[in-house]
Amino acid sequence: MRLFAIPLLLPLLLPAPAIAEENGVRAFAPCRACHSLDPAERNLPGPNLSGVIGRAVGGAAEFDYSPVLRKARDEGVRWDANRLEAFLADPAAMFPGLWMSMRGIEDVAERQALVKFLEDPSSR
Ligand code: HEC
Repeated sequence: MRLFAIPLLLPLLLPAPAIAEENGVRAFAPCRACHSLDPAERNLPGPNLSGVIGRAVGGAAEFDYSPVLRKARDEGVRWDANRLEAFLADPAAMFPGLWMSMRGIEDVAERQALVKFLEDPSSR
């Protein structure tokens, strides 16, 4: 086997959940500039995302949300895995006027890995 083939084969040797987890960690890397998963860390530009799935939209304590997210919160909208995945595909399309300057994630597998990662804090 030629040496350059080894990196291509590595994903086949790892168990599938490990791959998904790793992709989730990687997909969350750019989010860390603005979001933390450590409940104690609250001084970033974006709301704390620990336990975001199952939580009300605009539900992080002490975060000053945009009117569009406050309206969603007042209407009782909550984050579940499907809503979060759709949000990540095109955040501003779901909430026009959103104060989060991030383009959507086009790759569905990457979005799913990211949602899984946010769902399961132990995979941090
Ligand atoms: C440049 C900073 C920035 C980056 C990068 C960023 N966000 Fe955000 N995010 C924000 C801000 C600010 C808000 C609040 C928006 C508002 O109030 O309209 C937000 C809101 C959110 C919310 C809603 C939270 C709630 O409490 O309802 C989610 C979920 C979210 N971001 C996920 C992500 C993910 C996942 C990524 C990475 C793929 C990401 N964000 C990247 C700044 C950012």
